[in-house]
Amino acid sequence: MKEYFTLAEIDEVVQAIRNNTKYKPKVGLILGSGLGDLANSIEDPDFISYKNIPYWPTSTVHGHTGQLVIGKLEGQTVITMQGRAHYYEGYSMAEVTLPVRVMQRLGVEILIVTNAAGAINPEYVPGDVMFLSDHIAMIAMTGNNPLRGPNLDEFGPRFPDMSQAYDRVLLEKARKIADNNNLNTFSGVYVSLSGPSFESPADLRFLRAIGADAVGMSTVPEVIIARHSGLRVLGISGISNKANLDGTTITTHDEVLEAGKVLVPRLTTIVRGLLSEI
Ligand code: HPA
Repeated sequence: MKEYFTLAEIDEVVQAIRNNTKYKPKVGLILGSGLGDLANSIEDPDFISYKNIPYWPTSTVHGHTGQLVIGKLEGQTVITMQGRAHYYEGYSMAEVTLPVRVMQRLGVEILIVTNAAGAINPEYVPGDVMFLSDHIAMIAMTGNNPLRGPNLDEFGPRFPDMSQAYDRVLLEKARKIADNNNLNTFSGVYVSLSGPSFESPADLRFLRAIGADAVGMSTVPEVIIARHSGLRVLGISGISNKANLDGTTITTHDEVLEAGKVLVPRLTTIVRGLLSEI
């Protein structure tokens, strides 16, 4: 396991990807659990298996394919992660977020990051879409911040601002696109935990009390790294299950994957709409 990457190592990965694609992507797309099928609409794609990229973390989780899909979508050149690695799989924070460092060096300016999340807000039901208006970096604030370690000044400052982690212009555009397509969406606060165990009812009541609307095991580390180097970020949670604040139902990974089937067409509409407007 590598705790930190140097710029030279990051650029080694960049070179390996450049050697396998003709494209120069401007938009990065990270697809969460059960949401990988969104990459199927990419035109004239180059595929690069994670196994063939140096240092690249591969997901061991069912519902994560494990390849880059690089190509055209709505006239934009996109690099898509069909599956992502998580901290709970045993990777370091540097490894989990390496793909975002690499995207930035490849020339990506906008990152669209998706995840499957549990609904803490009682108004949300499985299949709903929540745009991230902000996050609670629970996993990072207790010490596991992906920026821990030597600062890479080429990317950004030692103490980066997080007051506007999610780009307001992208968020407004995405909301309008959803409205125009009769998709009911919410904007809310995502809290990231390490997982892999789901939350206890007392965990969930605590998370509700501190202002979280949805809970998941990813996204925030990638967003912190993206913001460190000034990428504009849109975050989207696909609500896969109701978090169980009173302990009366159980949560399963199958439920998360099942909700993905309803969510993929909705997220595809939003992402395509957004790409056609930027
Ligand atoms: N909790 C944490 N992570 C999740 C959940 C959940 O209920 N659903 C999907 N990812």
